[in-house]
Amino acid sequence: MSHERKPVTLTQLRNMKAAGDKFSCLTAYDAGFARVVDEAGVDVILVGDSLGMVVQGHKTTVPVTVDDMVYHSKLVARSCERALLMVDMPFMAYATMEQALVNAMRLMQEGGGQIVKLEGSGVQLDIVRELALRGVPVCAHLGLQPQVVHKLGGYRVQGRDEAGAQAMRNSARALEDAGADMLLLECVPRALAAEITASVSIPVIGIGAGPDTDAQVLVLHDILGITPGKVPRFSHNFMAEAGSIQAAVAAYAAAVRERRFPAPQHCFE
Ligand code: KIV
Repeated sequence: MSHERKPVTLTQLRNMKAAGDKFSCLTAYDAGFARVVDEAGVDVILVGDSLGMVVQGHKTTVPVTVDDMVYHSKLVARSCERALLMVDMPFMAYATMEQALVNAMRLMQEGGGQIVKLEGSGVQLDIVRELALRGVPVCAHLGLQPQVVHKLGGYRVQGRDEAGAQAMRNSARALEDAGADMLLLECVPRALAAEITASVSIPVIGIGAGPDTDAQVLVLHDILGITPGKVPRFSHNFMAEAGSIQAAVAAYAAAVRERRFPAPQHCFE
């Protein structure tokens, strides 16, 4: 299915989960790179608020605004012919119900997004429910939530203690019940991610969450080896073994599809 050029739908991704087929997701932030990612057969393109760090040069994702997300999503949407387009709701863009509805509308109507992603599961449950009722597809982001890095005091693996693990299991089920269409788990021990993936019927995308999630996502700049500073342990420089950007992105998509990525060195216990 990854070689077909028909647009990817949420139904197809759910069917892939049911069939045990892995799918790939990669970030892109402009039309040029989005075309490469789309043509390489990546199934979901994420316009991540990681653009705050890799494009805008900020230290965190916190300064990213809804206008920034709409702008970059518009650029990516122009090249997105096959991949499903997922767009991040940035920090505080869903602090109230009204903001969540208005900003999801902007990301879809102006930005061309087909599914929005938001972090957390507490007060966000009602927001996910309301968005779902109004026909907005939602991916809920659990585990490490970079938008609250200042509250967390750093980027750390989440769910290593039993209380944290249990809270994540409960959140995943509650988000599915609230109408989330996908889950994303970031920096989660592989056994916990495997358990959560098996416990919900919606597709689960992992980053630093081991090989047993239904899909993998990475940041484009990390796989191309151009991220400034320290590259996260869960990522892999596919450019180092490829002769071109196109070949590196295609190698990533194939490695996910064929279950060669992530390898044990990319996982947390
Ligand atoms: O913003 C982003 O790119 C993300 C991924 C790291 C999952 O949320």
